[in-house]
Amino acid sequence: MGSYKKEYEEVFEGKTILITGGLGFIGSNLAHKLVELNPKKVIIADALVNGLGGSIENIKEIKDKLEIYAGLEGDIRNIQKIKELVSQADYVFNLAGSIRHTGHNREDLIFDSEINLICQTLFLEACRQCMIENPKKNLSIIYAGTRDQYGKVSFMDLPLKEDFVPKTFTDYQSISKGAAEAHHIMLHSSLKEQGIDGIKITSVRITNTYGPRQSLDCGGAVPTFIKKILSGGKIELWGGGEVLRDFNHVDDVVDALILLAASDKTGGQIYNLGCCIGKEGMNTPVGGNLTTIMNLAHLIRDISGLGDVTAIPYPKERASIEPGHCCSDISKIARLGWIPKYSLRKGLEETIRFYKEKTLNNKDY
Ligand SMILES: NC(=O)c1ccc[n+]([C@@H]2O[C@H](COP(=O)([O-])OP(=O)(O)OC[C@H]3O[C@@H](n4cnc5c(N)ncnc54)[C@H](O)[C@@H]3O)[C@@H](O)[C@H]2O)c1
Repeated sequence: MGSYKKEYEEVFEGKTILITGGLGFIGSNLAHKLVELNPKKVIIADALVNGLGGSIENIKEIKDKLEIYAGLEGDIRNIQKIKELVSQADYVFNLAGSIRHTGHNREDLIFDSEINLICQTLFLEACRQCMIENPKKNLSIIYAGTRDQYGKVSFMDLPLKEDFVPKTFTDYQSISKGAAEAHHIMLHSSLKEQGIDGIKITSVRITNTYGPRQSLDCGGAVPTFIKKILSGGKIELWGGGEVLRDFNHVDDVVDALILLAASDKTGGQIYNLGCCIGKEGMNTPVGGNLTTIMNLAHLIRDISGLGDVTAIPYPKERASIEPGHCCSDISKIARLGWIPKYSLRKGLEETIRFYKEKTLNNKDY
């Protein structure tokens, strides 16, 4: 934290920062880091949506340093409240959303469109009104997009660059997150065109993030496998787990969010996270963070010394939303100075230790 603290203290000291979805996995880890940078205030707005990863437990060590709006009060659909909070803020990390991979049914369509698109539209309307009413205000917004926005891709397209044009989407999430990102970038240019120069909106397409404070029921491979082995079960690999994925430790993701917010070059831009730099980087990804789901399972078993791994047929309802091999090119954000610090092994060792301790203390994650 030492040199990191020095580097960013100048940027965030005395500033007000709003984190939407701040009681969730990435938001709470971000809050832990931001309170160390001497800000005036860190505000959290989180609707604590059922079935997502938000929990007061995630910020319990720092709750006295935060201003927290939870439930209805913290819902980004609440335009008046969000306007009031945004008008105080210098920086907004807009992390409210759902990472649930939805199926192809009416209930999932409604849930995903509501959480990942309509909520974002209302949030951006609050921001727009706030900037129009305070045209001299400086505001930097970082939006949490996802690599799922690339949809189904072919191996030849890897690693994916930010300008890759999706051809086939996999599920509602990939569509609604992409539409919400487009809305963010559009608001950036439309406010600039109206002479509102203090606005800066950036999107970051996050890949598979793992680490402490992630809900073990969120559906991601790392938490699902850790939950299985800690409860004495077998890790089940759908279709043998041959697909490639790129993983980032949450600390690296938090560093990227802070860097993008602090930089004056990132307005109206989109950045990938992940671990590959160019085609050659597919062979030597940073930190060994590109791997198959099968290797990931074996690594988790080896590190924990628990459980076993078995292959099962791909569940029918999941096959249609499987994007295939996937990994992103991080050359663009690397030029700003970010590459992951964590190797997959080191990150998993820390994460498994965290959950083993929680399980021993009977904490529910
Ligand atoms: N974790 C990953 O691997 C990953 C990958 C790609 C993108 N992302 C994106 O990063 C963001 C954070 O993800 P996470 O892993 O921390 O998820 P999470 O489920 O742990 O946290 C998301 C939080 O958003 C809150 N939320 C949802 N709708 C809200 C609303 N209307 N108003 C206020 N709060 C609301 C939820 O209550 C939850 O606490 C999400 O937007 C997600 O799509 C995450």
